[in-house]
Amino acid sequence: MNHPLADVTRRLGGIAYGGDYNPEQWPREVWREDVRLMREAGVNLVTVGVFSWSRIQPRPSTYDWSLHDEVLDLLHAHGIAVDLATPTAAPPPWFTRRHPDARPVTASGTRLVHGSRQVFCPSSPAYAEAADALVTELATRYGDHPALALWHVHNEWGNHNALCYCDTSAEAFRAWLQERYKTPDALNDAWGTDFWSQRYGDWAEIDPPRDTTAFRNPGQELDYRRFSSDALLTRHITETALLRRISPDVPITTNVMGTLEKKVDGYAFAAQSDLVAVDHYLPAADPDGHIDLALNADLARGMAGGRPWVLMEHSTSAVNWQPVNVAKKPGETRRNSLTHLARGADGLMFFQWRQSRAGAEKWHSAMLPHGGTDGRIWKEVSALGAELASLKEVTGTRVHGDVAVLFDWHNWWALELQARPSSAFSYLDAVRDWYEALWTMNITCDLVPPGADLTPYRAVVAPNLYLLSDDDADNLTQYVHRGGRLAVGCFSGLVDDCDRVRPGGHPGALRDVLGLVVDEFLPLRTGEHARLADGTAVEQWTERVEPRGCTTVSRYADTADGGPARGGPAVTRHGFGDGTAWYAAGRLPVPALRELLRTVCRQAGITPVVEAPPGLEAVRRVGDRHSYLFLVNHTEETVTVSVAGAGLAGTEVTDGRAVVPPGGVAVVREDPSSPLY
Ligand code: GAL
Repeated sequence: MNHPLADVTRRLGGIAYGGDYNPEQWPREVWREDVRLMREAGVNLVTVGVFSWSRIQPRPSTYDWSLHDEVLDLLHAHGIAVDLATPTAAPPPWFTRRHPDARPVTASGTRLVHGSRQVFCPSSPAYAEAADALVTELATRYGDHPALALWHVHNEWGNHNALCYCDTSAEAFRAWLQERYKTPDALNDAWGTDFWSQRYGDWAEIDPPRDTTAFRNPGQELDYRRFSSDALLTRHITETALLRRISPDVPITTNVMGTLEKKVDGYAFAAQSDLVAVDHYLPAADPDGHIDLALNADLARGMAGGRPWVLMEHSTSAVNWQPVNVAKKPGETRRNSLTHLARGADGLMFFQWRQSRAGAEKWHSAMLPHGGTDGRIWKEVSALGAELASLKEVTGTRVHGDVAVLFDWHNWWALELQARPSSAFSYLDAVRDWYEALWTMNITCDLVPPGADLTPYRAVVAPNLYLLSDDDADNLTQYVHRGGRLAVGCFSGLVDDCDRVRPGGHPGALRDVLGLVVDEFLPLRTGEHARLADGTAVEQWTERVEPRGCTTVSRYADTADGGPARGGPAVTRHGFGDGTAWYAAGRLPVPALRELLRTVCRQAGITPVVEAPPGLEAVRRVGDRHSYLFLVNHTEETVTVSVAGAGLAGTEVTDGRAVVPPGGVAVVREDPSSPLY
């Protein structure tokens, strides 16, 4: 059987291209111009009606389908397929007025008012009833509409309302806890409630971790995160089941936020969708935002089990929600889009088709800007549409990661709870540093959870595993024992899945596999650094490590410069079973991580996608007949790379060398008989 995304791209005739289409913001005269310009830009798929609830159901018992009827027919008549959204992310004002208790409540007890989106409590029965009725009506009306290619459930589950602390949520939390722990005693044990006299004798005594006098119970906080993610997941599963029952032949997706959002467990939502879709926006403050882009693309692919996926939203230029919304440079949108394509996207979509005149996002870029078709953005958008059409043979091909980088929402939640040795220790920063070290070497990796099947990977990198469940610890131990290579970042292997410290010396879950004991955590003050013997400066975090079988690969300097861990191991290596495990006992800077990973990759027989100068990003998609090499030039110089094959998308290949202009992207269809292949 085909993967559902393959059916979608076959129907579209290639790579999905388009964006969120919100015709309700415009008079109908504009719709005809929209479809004409969509055709001109090469758009073949649009996401319709994400925030259209108040139009579709203007009163509690009145549905008005006139807009959807006309727009879907119009799109279909112009050959544009529809990714139809269930508009449940923005309940209308009448709903909130009727059900004031369905509004979410903050940890400090403030009940939020209507006036934005996702103004609902994830556990509200009134919301569930209204949303389910709406989804049922929508699916019944359009489930077999010829324009319908894909269902888009909700929008970015939990973006604004994941954590609700109202009484309804409290009730639902108690039910979730009863299901998980069965008895209050088991819960007391899991949460360590004998600390600060928090022992519960009755489920009714347990509340969400609302604002309180001092630090909250970490087990309670962690479970509240899990519960909150599950509450929304239940909504997702319910909507999905309704759509599937009424419209069984149309695949279903939802736009997951990747590392943009810590509030819900992205893997869980991806697993409950027929195909994986994600959103990505460049962090404007990061001069190397393209590395964040690559990381998120590799996470999307990890969520998709290595299969192609859809980029449901990115921007043609500036967003409107960062402190300074930097415009993209000429050519940057193409570079961004083709990088997502290189890393396995079979769909490249934007927020949004036409830039709004009014409302909170009118200063957010779009495919069709306020100024219309005259400016740079439109020219780039339509050129990109044509280019993607010329690259349609790439659809369905796959990227194979040599390395697994472990990424886990539960660990993210736990690591960043209150009262840790250093509040400066950020999960995303740790992940980013290790990822960047691989990125700069053009080593392809998949971001996967620690419980994933690791057998396909020649090396595994764990930037941080503060929390590691028994099963996941076993997974890693087995992986190394059977001959795998594992590199682990500091402050890892310490607590179980209830955030309880593992006994017997740190890092309890990884002591044997790493062959060491961490005697003491030695975080550094802001601005302080400790030097390794080779002069490398380590910031934020050091540890005192005692070898128990491991070999010391590098050390902190044995002088005052070495900081609190002076003279002690900074990087260790340990043979375990048939494999090897490395440990970084500090927040090593990217160049030091790169040195470490270079050794790991050499031992694992992993080579870069191509040999290229710094700033040239290379990724390969592999198909049954051909492979496709993507070369993305982030420098201001022309770069040439040895290749064997034919240039696509305007790529010049001369004497076996692809020419990649400054800021440009080259695509090469590789010759399968070539030794470079
Ligand atoms: C996304 C959201 C879109 C739009 C966009 C702006 O998070 O799904 O509806 O708000 O951000 O960047």
